[in-house]
Amino acid sequence: MYLKEIYNMNENFIQGSLEMINLTKSKMNQYDYRDWISYFQENNHQRLDIDFSQEKQLSASECDLIFPSIKAFQKGEGSDGRHLMKAARRFIQEYKETDYQEAVQWFIREENWHSAYLRTFMDFYHVKTAKKSLPDKLFRKLRQTGGIKSEITILVTAEIIALTYYDALSKSTESSALKSICSQMLKDELPHIIFQSYTLSRLKKRAFDKVIRIMIMELTMLFVWLLFHNVYQAGGYSFVQFLKASMGYLRQSIVLVEQNRESSPY
Ligand SMILES: [Fe+2]
Ligand SMILES: [Fe+2]
Repeated sequence: MYLKEIYNMNENFIQGSLEMINLTKSKMNQYDYRDWISYFQENNHQRLDIDFSQEKQLSASECDLIFPSIKAFQKGEGSDGRHLMKAARRFIQEYKETDYQEAVQWFIREENWHSAYLRTFMDFYHVKTAKKSLPDKLFRKLRQTGGIKSEITILVTAEIIALTYYDALSKSTESSALKSICSQMLKDELPHIIFQSYTLSRLKKRAFDKVIRIMIMELTMLFVWLLFHNVYQAGGYSFVQFLKASMGYLRQSIVLVEQNRESSPY
């Protein structure tokens, strides 16, 4: 029951075209943390078995194009979530949201699956994992500057960026294995935006929340474009298209927070 809607929602992604999907109409927007736990459990049975049987060896230029960003995203998806769990525990104590701990554990597990998919793909091409990654380092530092709100604000920014990245990556490559990984990522990442937006709606509202989210998104977009514009361009994205899609999903996340805040005691 939980997956049916998301698979319908993601039809465009599965077919490889990033149409703006209306998240604000999703039933998932009404989920509480118990529902999210059920969703993550159900989704956990839908893990991708990467098929390399059709894989034709990528050219050197294609490897040069895709692997720098894949290495950075592989590192970013693989966080152990230690700081997030710490912030989550404080949130649970303060707001009495006891189911959040289990929900967030499932969420971290799903992100680690994403890292594992990319790792398997890198292993196939004998590409070593990155020990350090500048975007990952910056994201971690930023997330850890405050409590749960800064953690989630940065996380949902990264989830939104992931949508355009995996879409562009899928379109920039001839690799069927990588295309299947990108499809799986997109299927998983869309609900993450709704999940993180729900948590933001449970937190006390502050005057500059919205402005801060827009500023963080703008800075992140500039940074990601600077580093990985070649993959975006190879996938058919201009900077304006990247900006429109990212800001469009940010706007939707802000609407999701507002919608859910009405039912929040805070
Ligand atoms: Fe992910
Ligand atoms: Fe995610």
